[in-house]
Amino acid sequence: MANFLSTFLFFLLFINCAFSWKKDEFRNCNQTPFCKRARSRKPGACSLVAIDVSISNGDLVAKLIPKEKNQENTENGENPIKPLVLTISAYQDGILRLKIDEDQNLSPRKKRFEVPDVIVPDFVNKKLWLQRLKEEENEEGIFSVVYLSDGYEGVIRRDPFEVFVRESGQNGKKVLSLNSNGLFDFEQLRDKKEENEEWEERFRSHTDTRPYGPQSISFDVSFYDADFVYGIPEHATSLALKPTRGPGVEDSEPYRLFNLDVFEYIHDSPFGLYGSIPFMISHGKSRGSSGFFWLNAAEMQIDVMGPGWNNESVLMLPSDQKRVDTLWMSEAGVVDAFFFIGPGPKDVVRQYTSVTGKSALPQLFATAYHQCRWNYRDEEDVYNVDSKFDEHDIPYDVLWLDIEHTDGKKYFTWDRMLFPNPEEMQNKLAAKGRRMVTIVDPHIKRDESYYIHKEASEKGYYVKDATGKDFDGWCWPGSSSYLDMVNPEIRSWWAEKFSCKNYVGSTPSLYIWNDMNEPSVFNGPEVTMPRDALHYGDVEHRELHNAYGYYFHMATADGLVKRGDGKDRPFVLSRAFFPGSQRYGAVWTGDNSAEWDHLRVSVPMILTLGLTGISFSGADVGGFFGNPDTELLVRWYQLGAYYPFFRAHAHHDTKRREPWLFGERNTELMKEAIHVRYMLLPYFYTLFREANASGIPVARPLWMEFPADEKTFSNDEAFMVGNNLLVQGIFTERAKHVSVYLPGEQPWYDMKTGTAYEGGATHKLTVLEDSIPAFQRAGTIIPRKDRFRRSSTQMENDPYTLVIALNSSMAAEGELYVDDGKSFEFQQGAFIHRRFTFSNGKLTSSNMGTATGANNKFASECIVERIILLGLSPAPKNALVEPVNQKVDIEWGPLLLRGGKGKSVLTIRKPNVRIADDWTIKLL
Ligand code: GLC
Repeated sequence: MANFLSTFLFFLLFINCAFSWKKDEFRNCNQTPFCKRARSRKPGACSLVAIDVSISNGDLVAKLIPKEKNQENTENGENPIKPLVLTISAYQDGILRLKIDEDQNLSPRKKRFEVPDVIVPDFVNKKLWLQRLKEEENEEGIFSVVYLSDGYEGVIRRDPFEVFVRESGQNGKKVLSLNSNGLFDFEQLRDKKEENEEWEERFRSHTDTRPYGPQSISFDVSFYDADFVYGIPEHATSLALKPTRGPGVEDSEPYRLFNLDVFEYIHDSPFGLYGSIPFMISHGKSRGSSGFFWLNAAEMQIDVMGPGWNNESVLMLPSDQKRVDTLWMSEAGVVDAFFFIGPGPKDVVRQYTSVTGKSALPQLFATAYHQCRWNYRDEEDVYNVDSKFDEHDIPYDVLWLDIEHTDGKKYFTWDRMLFPNPEEMQNKLAAKGRRMVTIVDPHIKRDESYYIHKEASEKGYYVKDATGKDFDGWCWPGSSSYLDMVNPEIRSWWAEKFSCKNYVGSTPSLYIWNDMNEPSVFNGPEVTMPRDALHYGDVEHRELHNAYGYYFHMATADGLVKRGDGKDRPFVLSRAFFPGSQRYGAVWTGDNSAEWDHLRVSVPMILTLGLTGISFSGADVGGFFGNPDTELLVRWYQLGAYYPFFRAHAHHDTKRREPWLFGERNTELMKEAIHVRYMLLPYFYTLFREANASGIPVARPLWMEFPADEKTFSNDEAFMVGNNLLVQGIFTERAKHVSVYLPGEQPWYDMKTGTAYEGGATHKLTVLEDSIPAFQRAGTIIPRKDRFRRSSTQMENDPYTLVIALNSSMAAEGELYVDDGKSFEFQQGAFIHRRFTFSNGKLTSSNMGTATGANNKFASECIVERIILLGLSPAPKNALVEPVNQKVDIEWGPLLLRGGKGKSVLTIRKPNVRIADDWTIKLL
């Protein structure tokens, strides 16, 4: 009873404090010793010099030693500072990798943690074998130079040590550099000689031991010719990162990267949320982009320095020498850093994803609309919601079940009172082409009768606390332990749990949601696991914290692949993430609030994830906490329809908010928004394939498509979906007008009305309640499916509409990618990939895929039923389809897009050409 009471009181306490942002629960930089120390260092503080620079095994290697006292130098008077080992390797496509670590031969202590399983095997094969080392000497010192790629060199300056990439040739301009401001610092592991505060860390009521002493690393990185820097998710903040230090910046915290479960996060803060990607990309008008990635899974803090932070007069700098300085600080690990030379934003993203992997291609259903809430109570509720969608003619593809569907928060089980027949329920939805998702979190209830716990504890599969016992923390089920997913054996055991046999009550149409995988520990320091907890290979939690959720996501996705005998693509949504998470599934931006500012910040958050490799992301439509008013909810649907991941979700204390609960007109508006998404599914899926092949995200900042247009650099209210569509969010209540900047020299066509707007200008547009502004770029072709069904599956054989927006030369082009939407056979060439080109009054469809004819195992009988031409003059009379030589009707009439009536446009009706074939349609 006492136990029950204390549990109950704990919960009351928790629930009370859970739903407002509690700043004090989390450490700031001043309360984080490594951050405080690193931030207080002055430029030039680093006294290390590079010696013994040479080429060894195809790498450029050197030692770093303190300049003054050489190897005799000591810290503490006790622990001698050993030389550090520096290695530079070059890789194809303009990538330099820099590693700095303690010398293993000289350090008998434990090996520092290097994150395995992130770099893709292919990347390693791209290593270039360095052979020649050039030495240069001038008034600034001695430099060792290696060839990096056409036009670029990697350089080490000896004294003080600095590593940079520069353009080769006369001008030798720097692109990216490390330690130019002399802030490098590397705390070596130590033997404990005396008791003092170095060996433990306190925060609130928690104490973490530090058995190896402080072990942090920090350094400055400079991006040259850069106007802005972007990236390093996850923060609820602007796309272009605001300076955190320098003149005019009061009291800002650095951007924190530490995966945390943050209740009611605020919408404008450098505070670190659920996932971490230590990858930053710069962009500037004069050169373009470059990127820097530090593969390190410990807590990180990053400062962006404003101009003049180091008292350097910014006015003295020539305009093409604008530089952004940054300071990177991490609690542990090694330096394993990658410099990406760009020079375009897409080049940088390609380079980064060549290291960490491209986005997995989702199944088609996963790119459609998802309906979620905490919780759909029981089977009756599920059937009811499902049938209401049909009644209101609103398509949806996936219905989600949150934690309450389980028996006492024991994942892989069902509350059989509420869900007596889960298989039947899934099968009934599957018959309409719909899927279900259940939640599976990483905390395992410590309940002897729970088979997962029993096996895991018997096999010793849990993370250990500092004393070596199974770590026991508090989460949804109460007392819980956490699987040590870093161990491949445990991941493989976990993966087996997803087979339909092992996961009783599951069917092949059930997919998975991984939540709380930061990991969230309600009674732990900062709501997570203590840093001195121990993992496989004696790795301290502090060293790999940010990768824990990544491993959990990986093991779950592998489980779904195994379940389908390797045939079906998995779908797993994760809240925590790390570099490489894009290979395993989607992520969402966690527990946002039903507020306009949260709607607004969802755009930069999603764009930032895309820039850093994670293309498949979205925010809870409607806002998780609180009750959105109807207007906000409608606007959220209208914007969410363009998120790569489109899911409505809500906290269990909120009012029900399915789209039909707000009166007929609002149901219409939400339905219309969902219809826009279904109509654009062929375009979205083509973009998902592009992300899968090249790493270029589905949702892109405007400057990724218009890199020379400064007006786009800090715009994060509008974004591109692929390179054809620009979407402008409406983020204020009762908005009557909105200013939309449309970049480039070509016009843009309002998607709904077909009205043309001049490019390179800001337009003040009237805002209507029925949609948010979306424009098709002149010169592009968008494939659509305009017939509405219950789910994407039921649209499989539907015909296509092509929308051609002509540029000033009366030309346009676009792509369509189609495959079976579910298997991995596309990797063997089983797909259709077409290029559509319009010029000289002729539309041509040609093959872009590699496999053709008999080699292509994917066939489609789908046809094009309609072609809409925007911006055409003069008016043709007829259209002729070749090679069949058949005339088809053309027609002038107002553009009809669900409820809208627009400009007169030309429509070619029923050309009925197959998307799989080569053909030409001539306007006569
Ligand atoms: C977390 C998730 C939220 C979910 C809830 C219950 O707060 O972020 O999406 O509904 O847990 O599982």
